[in-house]
Amino acid sequence: MLFAITRDVSPAIGNCELTHMARETIDLHRARLQHRQYEQRLKEAGCQLIQLTADPDLPDSVFVEDTAIVLDEIGIITRPGVESRRAETDSVAQALTPYRRLVYIRAPGTLDGGDVLRVGNSLYVGRSARSNTDGIDQLRRLVSPNGYSVVPVDLRDCLHLKSAVTQVAEDMLLVNRHWVDARVFSSMRLVEVHESEPFAANALRIVDTVIYPDAFIRTRDRLEAQDLNVCTVDASELAKAEGGVTCCSLIFPV
Ligand code: GLY
Repeated sequence: MLFAITRDVSPAIGNCELTHMARETIDLHRARLQHRQYEQRLKEAGCQLIQLTADPDLPDSVFVEDTAIVLDEIGIITRPGVESRRAETDSVAQALTPYRRLVYIRAPGTLDGGDVLRVGNSLYVGRSARSNTDGIDQLRRLVSPNGYSVVPVDLRDCLHLKSAVTQVAEDMLLVNRHWVDARVFSSMRLVEVHESEPFAANALRIVDTVIYPDAFIRTRDRLEAQDLNVCTVDASELAKAEGGVTCCSLIFPV
């Protein structure tokens, strides 16, 4: 069985962190409707939801992905790279406690889950403004006893590694080559985002379904040309908060 942790959109979402985007007004009502549609897609893809309540003091807390990395053997509770997001981890750790032994990234390390792309037993980790060398080294020490390797990856012009690359099939990644050097993923087949859609590399694969923003029609054509089962959502409001479809859930088998 697959579980998905989600969290309702904070009424303070308008005060979210932004790194590479200009601030735009976010319609909270619309963001919540879109988030419910996203949760429905998770259910249709086979997930049982664990829904956490919104927190008015934590603007970015809908982006639960950044607070933990859930492997089959352990859960790693992160230490997000911006101070405003650190308290988000408490409720996620509580929700994960029945399902995984938890270990923690400690100061001075920082790590955002959005920087961690798992492909088999490899954890590719973005060296970003959010995830520092100490955090990446701690992650390596925590996961290596379970047979995982940690591969640091440089980024440019984007927030997280998974802004630039995500997995869409067992042997296939979706990538924006302007934001990450794709040579590090040479063992995989690569689909490139369309030139006109730089934010299109963030897709959420659940078994044989790819949940994907409906805004990126040209890149979607490329995914469908690979015979992938693409299921779209309107994610336009949270996109203004620099969030993509992977950011809004933590998915793990039980
Ligand atoms: N607004 C998403 C983030 O900066 O973490």
